[in-house]
Formats: sequence, structure tokens, C-alpha cells
Amino acid sequence: MTPDSRRYHITTFGCQMNKADSERMAGVLENMGFQWSDTPDDANLILYNTCTIRDNAEQKVYSYLGRQAKRKHAEPDLTLVVAGCVAQQEGDDLLRRVPEVDLVMGPQHANRLEDLLDQVAAGQQIVATEPIHIVEDITKPRRDSTVTAWVNVIYGCNERCTYCVVPGVRGVEQSRTPEAIRNEMVQLGEQGFKEVTLLGQNIDAYGRDLPGVTPEGRHQHNLTDLLYFVHDVPGIERIRFATSHPRYFTERLIQACCELPKVCEHFHIPFQSGDNDVLKAMSRGYTQEKYRRIIDRIRDLMPDASISADAIVGFPGETEAQFENTLKLVEEIEFDQLNTAAYSPRPRTPAALWENQLSEEVKADRLQRLNHLVGLKAGVRSQRYANRIEEVLVEDQNPKDPTQVMGRTRGNRLTFFPGNIEELRGRIVAVKVTEVRSFSLTGQPLSALTPV
Ligand code: SAH
Ligand code: SF4
Ligand code: F3S
Repeated sequence: MTPDSRRYHITTFGCQMNKADSERMAGVLENMGFQWSDTPDDANLILYNTCTIRDNAEQKVYSYLGRQAKRKHAEPDLTLVVAGCVAQQEGDDLLRRVPEVDLVMGPQHANRLEDLLDQVAAGQQIVATEPIHIVEDITKPRRDSTVTAWVNVIYGCNERCTYCVVPGVRGVEQSRTPEAIRNEMVQLGEQGFKEVTLLGQNIDAYGRDLPGVTPEGRHQHNLTDLLYFVHDVPGIERIRFATSHPRYFTERLIQACCELPKVCEHFHIPFQSGDNDVLKAMSRGYTQEKYRRIIDRIRDLMPDASISADAIVGFPGETEAQFENTLKLVEEIEFDQLNTAAYSPRPRTPAALWENQLSEEVKADRLQRLNHLVGLKAGVRSQRYANRIEEVLVEDQNPKDPTQVMGRTRGNRLTFFPGNIEELRGRIVAVKVTEVRSFSLTGQPLSALTPV
């Protein structure tokens, strides 16, 4: 096999961090001479970038992997890589369970892929899960979009939410320097990208592991100052950030979002539960009153801000009345979008060991009731867009209708309108909204607001 006939396929599960890591690993592979293959069945190297946030996410990985492991018996040259959070959680056990795997690598090792594959080529089976200092990228990511890009600002998480595997699999917080972040954004601007989403599992923790304190006693580096520092990067028209933690969300940050025109009025702030005792058992470090104050304050300054969140139902010990407090919060806040999940006990997390687990029936029933309410509320919330003029940054063609393009409003609503993608990709267009659905909009273009 010649080096340039090697083909790779990556399947990505889980959150935006994994998507960003996959783009970087794809960049490493292309730099090594691999070419993208649309289907895993035609690839010589298959990489699963895995998620273990809930049990069903983990099981999905094993079913995908099982198929390719079989294929390897007929094609011994096939390289199988398991990266990401299941890899970190299972380590050696994964090799015992699926011995066909060549490389098991935790998320902190994503940038070391080439080095690890060299060891595999030398005939070894490798497990790379030891904690390391994450090295700055030297390879260019192969980004899925040419318009919007992820930029990691902080890796890992130092919180200890009692249900959550993330600190265990992503390791301790490691912030990138403001200069490294800005440099990456400058390059993105030069390459024609228009929107950047700054990423961290708990992005409000940005900078607290970097040295320096201000005269007022703040960490020298923090998310608010980072937004001011990167705001004028040429070419970048929009900035978003995720995920916010209510425990650390500050008034200064809200002010900055209001003041800085490129920062979109879109906030993803998971609340997890609307009940204070459940929040305490989760070790979230805030009350539902504090959460409501944050949202009220955002809406005071930015009445049109869109608010999304995550919530868990059926946490150990959650009573019907406590669950109803979550319903009440959702009823009253009216989220633009809410990701909901039934609690899933995870390995090496405190809550998994508690005896007050709820039955699957109770969890499923609560999930269904919450989802019903979310759909109703999102429908109501969407109505405010009817007949309005929205700024849409065009990302792609509508896959279901080639006469239409699609993009997002500043509030992150997916919006479709008639147009030619070759002319409009990467441009911000004023669109008059003509049709409103719970989670998306359709409209008519008025005028392009930015040049090509
Ligand atoms: N760092 C973010 C979220 C990380 S995980 C935060 O602090 O909010 C993404 C979402 O998965 C969480 O917000 C939570 O709602 C959900 N989740 C995490 N662990 C879970 C578990 N054990 N069972 C069910 N849902 C879970
Ligand atoms: Fe998990 Fe909590 Fe960290 Fe979010 S803040 S990643 S929920 S431990
Ligand atoms: Fe899943 Fe890991 Fe993200 S567990 S949600 S891929 S941090």
C-alpha cells in the first residue's frame, strides 16, 4: 500500500469538545497522507471518537466497534483506533473486551495521534490514557465547515458534579493562553471563517489555572477579559461561547456580552434541576433562585437573548414534588432549547453508588413529561420571530431543498431561505421570517449585509 492510498474515517460521538478534537485528529491524519473516506467500510484506518456521558452513548460505541472488529479478521491491515472519553474510562479493559483494537487514546492525547500511530506501525498495541499537559497544536485541523469554527479555550473540568464522568475522563482544567487563542482566531479570520465558538466544559473557569491576579483580586485571565481581548479579530463577525456554569457566571460577563457587538445574544447555561435539594445533592453550587437571577439579568440587558440549557430528570432520590420544581422552572423561564436526559449511573461517580436510585419507568415517565413541556414552550418562544427581520449567517445548502440555503440567527435559530449557496456561503443576510417552527425558521432574503 502506498502512503497516499491510505484512507481514514472518523465517527464522532458526544459533545462539541469531541467534534473539535476530531477535526484536529483529521488534520493530523491528512498531514500524514491519509485521505478522507466517506464510509468506514472503505477505510484502512477507522477512528471512533467516543462519549460516555450516559450508558447508551457508551453502548453505541461497542456496537459500531463490533462490526469493524469482525472486518479486521479478513483485513488484518485495518487500523482500529478508539479515542475520546470511553477510551479514557476503559483504558486496558477496552483492549481486553475488543482485542482487535490497535490504539486506545484518551482526549488529552488527541494532538499526539501521529506519534501514537507510529508506535502502532511498529507492531505495538497502545493504550495512551495517562494524564498529560496538553500540547499546543502544530497541525491544522480539518474543519467540517468553512464558515464556523470551534476554538478550545479550556480543557478539562475541576468541578465534581456527583453524576458526571467528565472530570474523570477529561482531566484537570488546562487553559490555553489568550495569545494562543487570539492567534488561532486571527488565522481563522484570514482563512475566511466568520464565526467562532469558544469551547470549554466549564468555560467560566477559563484562566483560573493561569498565573496572575489583578489588583481587585480577580484572576488575571478570565473569560470576560478574553472576550475583550479577541473581539477585534479581523474577519470574525460573530463570537459564541459554551458551556456556561451558573455557579461562576458573572455580572461582568453579562455586561461584556451586551457591550461587545460580535458576541451573540445566545447563552447555553445548564441548570440540571429546578429543585434546591437536588442541586445540592448534585454538588452544583447554586440555587434555582440564583439561576433565575442570572436569566433575569441577561433579559434585563438583552431582552431578546436566546437561552438554552441542559436538565437531568430522575436523579437519585428525586421526588415527584422535586421533579415538579424542574417543570415549574421550565414553564416560567421559557427556554429556546433544552437538552433533557434521564439520569444514568456512571462508573466512578459518587451518585452511581447511592441506594436511592429511581426505577427506569419513573425516569422515562418524567423525561417524557418534561420533553412535552419543552416542545410546547419552544413553540411559544419561537413565535417572537414571526415577521421579524433576522441576521442570518449562511453556512450551507438546505440538504432537503437545493433551492434554499441555511444558516443561523444571532440567537442560534436554524433558518432556511431561497438562495444560491455559491453566492451566499459565509455572508450575513437580512431575512424576513415568514414561517416559524419550534426549533427552526423559514424566510425571504432582503439584502446581504456583508460582502463575499
Ligand atoms: N459541563 C456542562 C455539561 C457537560 S455534560 C455543565 O456543567 O453543564 C452535558 C450534559 O449531559 C450535562 O449538562 C447533563 O445534563 C448531562 N449529563 C451529564 N451526566 C449525566 C448522567 N450521568 N446522566 C444523565 N445526564 C447526564
Ligand atoms: Fe460535569 Fe459538572 Fe464539570 Fe459540567 S461542570 S463537566 S456537569 S462535572
Ligand atoms: Fe461525552 Fe466526553 Fe463530551 S463524555 S459529552 S464526549 S466530554
